[in-house]
Amino acid sequence: MHRIRALLQRRARGGDEHAGAFEMKSILKWVLAVVVVGVIIAATVPLWPVQSDYDEQAAKATLEGNQTELVARGKYLSAAADCAACHQSPDGTPYAGGLPIDTPFGVIYGTNITPDPETGIGTYGSKDLFHAIVDGKRGDGTWLYPAMPFASYHEMRQEDSDAIFAFLQTQAPVARENLAPELGFPFNQRWLLSYWNLVNPKVSLPRSASAEQTEGAYLTDVLGHCQECHTPRNILGGLKLSQAYEGSDLGGGIQGPSLTPTALAGRGWTAEDLRDFLSRGMSPQGTMTLEMYPVLQHSTQYLSDADIASIQTHLMGDEPLPSKDVQPTQVTDTVAHAKGRDTYVALCAGCHGMDGGGKPHIAPPMVTNTSIRLPDPGNLLKVLLDGVEEQHYPNGEVMQEMPGYSDLLSTQEVVDLANYLRSEWGGAASSITSDDVDKVMN
Ligand code: HEC
Ligand code: HEC
Ligand code: HEC
Repeated sequence: MHRIRALLQRRARGGDEHAGAFEMKSILKWVLAVVVVGVIIAATVPLWPVQSDYDEQAAKATLEGNQTELVARGKYLSAAADCAACHQSPDGTPYAGGLPIDTPFGVIYGTNITPDPETGIGTYGSKDLFHAIVDGKRGDGTWLYPAMPFASYHEMRQEDSDAIFAFLQTQAPVARENLAPELGFPFNQRWLLSYWNLVNPKVSLPRSASAEQTEGAYLTDVLGHCQECHTPRNILGGLKLSQAYEGSDLGGGIQGPSLTPTALAGRGWTAEDLRDFLSRGMSPQGTMTLEMYPVLQHSTQYLSDADIASIQTHLMGDEPLPSKDVQPTQVTDTVAHAKGRDTYVALCAGCHGMDGGGKPHIAPPMVTNTSIRLPDPGNLLKVLLDGVEEQHYPNGEVMQEMPGYSDLLSTQEVVDLANYLRSEWGGAASSITSDDVDKVMN
């Protein structure tokens, strides 16, 4: 940067007798730089990600099968893979695109995947869709940003991608232009994504596992792409697969909690509660909030009991660890604790109960709530400050809006309240400070 500035300054000084020579030198430097970059690219071309195999014969057999069954299967699979979560328009139009997805590199928008030939994927064949899903490569040969979770979908079965293709073909074509990603240099250079693909691993299925275990991994890691929010990422935004399900920072202070068997048992999950949470969005451990709610809305609520059980077993293991009984922790600052309790009684107990037991159809319990038990207080503070919009759950269950308290409570009051909740019901030390609140506010 300094060099460029110096160069511009020198250029601005017109009439400099050395300017001509300097110009020549800097042009040569640029030419040299371009040549070097060109050589590097040429030398690594053979290493560029190989596309997955596509079997045209098998595709023909799948796509010419019973159409009703094929489309129904495609619909189920697109729910299992949660395509709608990112491709539904903000106004609710199915698959027409436009949803902004925040990444540390900038905003990327879900695209139009209705069969509109101009703005959607009307010109895609089943093979193009397969490569987009499993390789992150578009019909026109350019690379997709990994906000499209192809790193998780990489081992999606071709017959499943073909069924999703048949289903998407039945959708009404919607003419809606795609929104260009808002990324700065160098992230706006799509071609660099071929290198991203080279250095970042993709999710793979276990090679020596029983059919049931493979199915669980397929539903959870591949279709459900659950690691995208529950596994930490490297600085390039790739998944750290060696730390699978150890929790992920989703930005703005929000955490995709750790879902390892130990972490789940430590926060009080039983197999049955986890199945309820995934299929109904509710359990004694709480309701689905933040980025998890859309997962229920577009995906897990539609899954069969068998598939939900398969996901639960994949996460917890065949023999789930005994769930931990969480006890109140020792209080060191009794004055702050009493203040936190006063706030709880004044503002929260009306809905969540004096004893934190919750009220059926009104508000979830606090006593057994995992948002209070998570090691990182971000999600808890986020809910306290911003509240939760009215949410709809399966079987006609509705949870009213929970108000946000960022305007009503001072930072210290939020800190005292959160520490009260954590030491009373979270089994955690009262270690929340105003820094934690600031992290969520910014
Ligand atoms: C977590 C969010 C997310 C999910 C889930 C997701 N996508 Fe995407 N998808 C994106 C984003 C973002 C893009 C655009 C990326 C870009 O601009 O490079 C995209 C691009 C695409 C494209 C390329 C369209 C084009 O412009 O040529 C296709 C096709 C596609 N997705 C299909 C699917 C299907 C089918 C599913 C479900 C199996 C799915 N996506 C699930 C986020 C997602
Ligand atoms: C008007 C009723 C109401 C009041 C008052 C209220 N809440 Fe809530 N709260 C709810 C509802 C309803 C939900 C669940 C929202 C959903 O899932 O749609 C909720 C969710 C939560 C959650 C997230 C639970 C989870 O399962 O993830 C926490 C934590 C929470 N409330 C704490 C509090 C605290 C602390 C206060 C007081 C400052 C408070 N609430 C005041 C109704 C209320
Ligand atoms: C878009 C990001 C995202 C995706 C994808 C996602 N999750 Fe989550 N998940 C979250 C966030 C954020 C929370 C915390 C809020 C809550 O508990 O509702 C969460 C919470 C959870 C919890 C509760 C943990 C606890 O102790 O409170 C479970 C279990 C869970 N997710 C399972 C899954 C499974 C299984 C999948 C794949 C089918 C999945 N998640 C996909 C973001 C995501």
